[in-house]
Amino acid sequence: MANSSIRIETERLIVRRFEDRDVADILEYSQHEASDEHRRRNVDWELTEESVRQWWTPMATMRPEEAIHWLSLVVELKAEGRVIGNVGFNAKRIGEKPQGQIGWILGRDHEGNGYATEAAEALLEYLFRAVGFHRVYAMTSPDNRRSWQLMERLGMRREAHFVKNCHHDAGWTDEYVYAILAEEWTARR
Ligand SMILES: CC(C)(COP(=O)(O)OP(=O)(O)OC[C@H]1O[C@@H](n2cnc3c(N)ncnc32)[C@H](O)[C@@H]1OP(=O)(O)O)[C@@H](O)C(=O)NCCC(=O)NCCS
Repeated sequence: MANSSIRIETERLIVRRFEDRDVADILEYSQHEASDEHRRRNVDWELTEESVRQWWTPMATMRPEEAIHWLSLVVELKAEGRVIGNVGFNAKRIGEKPQGQIGWILGRDHEGNGYATEAAEALLEYLFRAVGFHRVYAMTSPDNRRSWQLMERLGMRREAHFVKNCHHDAGWTDEYVYAILAEEWTARR
């Protein structure tokens, strides 16, 4: 497994560990309208400096192999010198190698520029090459077009369409599962 320091620089972004100075930026990009269903499902607790610190502080040092539940990394936009979202993953060892789920969120103001694609590509490269993942999957609802289109841009394959397996305020919703294998990622690069 990789060591615990994670800092990946791409053309426009730095994907890295949380630092305490990020709290204000995280609070800002996490703000959303009540009608913004997808962001609301991602951040369904009260947003305060304290709750942000409580969620993020363990992520600053958690090793990838300890990410049984979730390890989020902040996405810093170099041009603005501030954090605009996050990408994250979990890891479970099955047989010889780990595999796991990935996810993402961007502040609404930064959608539509390819930043999530750039950050998720960096994360996939890290998980497959540095950590040695065998397979990565992601899940979303069919009405979250931006999220499943991102999965498709990353070269992930739609492997499942579960019918009414999630429950939210609005009732039962369907779910897509997308995945990509290490050898498929390598072939794309
Ligand atoms: C899911 C989410 C991260 C996707 O964000 P996004 O901005 O659509 O994705 P990207 O940053 O990769 O940008 C892609 C868009 O930028 C455009 N784009 C511009 N420059 C680009 C570039 N260099 N590379 C790729 N796309 C680029 C693409 O054409 C695409 O535009 P479109 O929306 O008109 O198709 C975002 O909508 C979000 O945070 N949603 C709320 C949280 C959420 O639902 N998380 C997932 C839970 S499962």
